[in-house]
Amino acid sequence: MAILVTGGAGFIGSHTVVELQNAGYEVVVVDNLSNSSEKSLKRVEEITGKPVKFYRADILDKPALEEVFQKESIDSCIHFAGLKAVGESVQKPWEYYYNNITGTLILLDVMRKHNVKNIVFSSSATVYGAPEVVPITEECPKGEITNPYGQTKGMLEQVLTDIYKADNEWNVILLRYFNPIGAHKSGKIGENPNGIPNNLMPYITQVAVGKLEKLGVFGNDYDTPDGTGVRDYIHVVDLAKGHVKAIEKVKENPGLKIYNLGTGIGYSVLDIVKNFEEATGISIPYEIKPRRAGDIATNYADASLAKKELGWIAENGIKEMCQDAWRWQSQNPNGFEE
Ligand code: NAD
Ligand code: UD1
Repeated sequence: MAILVTGGAGFIGSHTVVELQNAGYEVVVVDNLSNSSEKSLKRVEEITGKPVKFYRADILDKPALEEVFQKESIDSCIHFAGLKAVGESVQKPWEYYYNNITGTLILLDVMRKHNVKNIVFSSSATVYGAPEVVPITEECPKGEITNPYGQTKGMLEQVLTDIYKADNEWNVILLRYFNPIGAHKSGKIGENPNGIPNNLMPYITQVAVGKLEKLGVFGNDYDTPDGTGVRDYIHVVDLAKGHVKAIEKVKENPGLKIYNLGTGIGYSVLDIVKNFEEATGISIPYEIKPRRAGDIATNYADASLAKKELGWIAENGIKEMCQDAWRWQSQNPNGFEE
């Protein structure tokens, strides 16, 4: 039996395929390559020494998905496929709702027709909005979500919850990721954003490699120790391993479960700059800029439920995150392009 990984050519998906293969799982990847390259899967094969079964298909294309389910013996799905750029989602809400919501509804329909009722879904800490207290537990109420991307996560959590309530044969695991950064230790796979990065770590690594001049720090007047935003950065390989643990959990027929995946430690923007400089020996020039719309001051996880119920903890610290992000960027200054 195989695990279907939608969006498996992407940043988190490719790292998860590595960990699934290393754990002995058979994997089938579906990706339309709208935000990724097939080369990431070739690199996965180099890392694991195992072939990756890949279908270039869109989850909006029902006949194509049907074909995958007919040809392969799938028993569970890890669903990463989706558009994820917050700013772009504000400009293109229809595209985000159509791709993420309609795509998932089609996937779920094909799954139930083939009696595949196990799904692990990529959600985000964004569903908590601006938290009233930190660290954030899974019990914290969902907050106001300020952009269409985040809305699709909140809505799809609701869709999956309602599907489980209507049919308890489903096992639904909602994983709320905090801020994934870093890359595989081999330096062969990593984050490959299109254009100028929106997120902090890829921006820093592009400054380090000389593609960008200096980092803009978005605000230094937040209510945090140094005034800059505090986040819970998690190594992408730890996040990937969390998915393997979630797949193991599915075998216990857990029903509906929600887990935060983070380290429980908050770092400010300036902490990240300092740690990156220490880990790599490269200095990162920066300037303070105005706050970015929609940002919150502080956000970090209470990840104790994942430890208790999945037996999962984040093993890599900030030093490894910085070193591994830099290894990937320096070995692949243009991502997967030669
Ligand atoms: P990514 O863009 O690297 O990966 C997503 C993959 O999905 C891409 O390979 C893309 O080509 C594919 N895809 C998009 N729409 C598709 C469609 N209609 N059909 C088939 N494939 C499609 O992003 P990522 O960082 O690896 O994120 C994976 C998932 O985790 C996403 O759902 C994202 O929203 C979620 N998430 C990411 C973060 C983060 O910081 N990276 C945080 C929280 C949640
Ligand atoms: C962002 C998204 C969130 C998404 C997550 C992962 C917003 C408001 N939130 O989270 O929904 O799940 O990415 O994709 O976009 N920063 C700078 N300079 C930069 C970039 C970032 O100072 O050039 C700061 C930010 O203000 C923030 C921190 O760095 O304090 C982290 O930012 P980022 O990496 O974009 O992640 P989030 O905003 O936490």
